[in-house]
Amino acid sequence: MNAHNNKTHWWETATIYQIYPRSFNDSNDDGIGDLNGIRERIPYLKNLGIDAVWLSPFYKSPGADAGYDVSDYLSIDKAAGDFPEFDALVSELHNNDLKIIIDIVPNHCSIEHELFLKALASAPGSAERELFHFRDGTGENGELPPNNWKSHFGGNAWTQITNPNGEPDQWYLHLFDPGQPDFNWDNPAVEQYFLDVLEFWLERGVDGFRVDVAHLLSKDPLLPNWDGPANGKQHPDFPTQDSPMFGRDEVHNIFRSWRELLDKYSSDTGTEKMMCGEVCVQPLSWQAQWARPDEMHTVFNFSLLEIGFDSEAWATTISNSLEAFNAVGAPTTWVLNNHDVARSTTRLGYSEGYPKPGDGVGPDDPQPDIEKGLRRACAAVSTLFALPGSVYIYQGEELGLPDHTTLSAQFRNDPTYFRTAGKRIGRDGCRIPLPWNSTEKNFGFSDADSTWLPQPAEFDTYSANLQERDQDSTLQLYKLLIKTRKNLNLGSSTLRMIDHNVSPRILAFTIGETTVVMNTDDRPINISELTQEKQLILASIPEALVNEHWLAAESTVWLSV
Ligand code: GLC
Ligand code: CA
Repeated sequence: MNAHNNKTHWWETATIYQIYPRSFNDSNDDGIGDLNGIRERIPYLKNLGIDAVWLSPFYKSPGADAGYDVSDYLSIDKAAGDFPEFDALVSELHNNDLKIIIDIVPNHCSIEHELFLKALASAPGSAERELFHFRDGTGENGELPPNNWKSHFGGNAWTQITNPNGEPDQWYLHLFDPGQPDFNWDNPAVEQYFLDVLEFWLERGVDGFRVDVAHLLSKDPLLPNWDGPANGKQHPDFPTQDSPMFGRDEVHNIFRSWRELLDKYSSDTGTEKMMCGEVCVQPLSWQAQWARPDEMHTVFNFSLLEIGFDSEAWATTISNSLEAFNAVGAPTTWVLNNHDVARSTTRLGYSEGYPKPGDGVGPDDPQPDIEKGLRRACAAVSTLFALPGSVYIYQGEELGLPDHTTLSAQFRNDPTYFRTAGKRIGRDGCRIPLPWNSTEKNFGFSDADSTWLPQPAEFDTYSANLQERDQDSTLQLYKLLIKTRKNLNLGSSTLRMIDHNVSPRILAFTIGETTVVMNTDDRPINISELTQEKQLILASIPEALVNEHWLAAESTVWLSV
């Protein structure tokens, strides 16, 4: 099944740990995590066994979307640190054989970006405005938006500006927050600008880029009305191919030129530079187009986080994923968590109606069954780590952290919450500062009086220090999964689904010499048909195999052939 077996590149099989800098570790006690805070925790990362880290944005930003509104791509936000600290972090990661991937946000910048400020100060039709999507309004006096596009965060995708005399002027497009104006990628100046940005960071030694919303950059130049998401039939994060802004053909040329640059740097420096795209389109065969040989190295495959805890759905999704990515000769990239979705412990704590990606859980919502959620999350990730390709984990996932699901409105930060008048709770709950030490102030994240998002009291028991000491903890499970996956070379092995008659609630496959069995039912199932003459390698919970034949409810085991 693996078309890419002969020569392996690090990014094909890597375990990559996503750091959300402002919530990872605070070194100077202002309540916001920073680069030095990351450097302090390199021993923890090394001990976890990961191969690389991906850092969410740390650039200068007014924070309209927690750093995904960048006002200077060649800078470091004061709250995160400075260049000497960045350089020290890169070299210390490299000294520990850890790679570093940084986040590039090319669809939009911040309204405080110099280029946007210049566009505001320039006349309609000027070269400055042509870097963005400025249009006259419709209606008698231009008082209505140029088209009917909606923002991903809710509400309109257009904001009207006023000219220097305070009179109504043109409108600009923002597929996200009004603080995030979309660049006009038909303009060659934009393309050149970003090639320079990539080069700048490659020169500083980064190993790759995570590319934000890589399906969105190009738009139909006529900006026609589109009734897809607007008619409510579609979640705007899951676009269709007939739209004027999602996955247009032109977008692929952009990444072809990025790939050329990365290939050049790889051969010049003798290290392998890579990029991984956040491409939110379906079906998988369409998503895989971004990972064709002359485009991105990988794209996130979100399909397992979009389905519930159901063995049949998992079997189909795994097979479809491998087929779609093998067809373009790219590895698959598995993801269960990131900073945009309710954490798996929370999500899987619902039997049905789990929160949609991007929508969180608030104090007025039915609360998840956390114990069930964590058990299922451990089973799910134990299956995930046995799949061929690379794996991304999100900080705190290795602690089994749930979301903060009772965060009160006054602390909310995510624009989704405000732009939908609280209808969509948003993503704050999965972005809470990490608990490092159960006995310290703010659980060891910071000595500040308050942290940028408050931690719930329940984080106490998830603290890393407690889990380091507990052989049965989620943290120990992650270490074992990462290590064993590597030792058995599962990332580059061949997967075969096992056709069995045990139960439709049992997922079973072999990967290389290893047999993996997951029970998604809420009762134990006799799996003796699958366990014969096999030895247990690892289990998602200590008591997973009962009497050698019964697989406990909501658990996964790895067996040797
Ligand atoms: C991506 C990011 C998300 C951000 C959005 C706009 O989806 O992961 O956090 O809000 O892009 O940049
Ligand atoms: Ca700080």
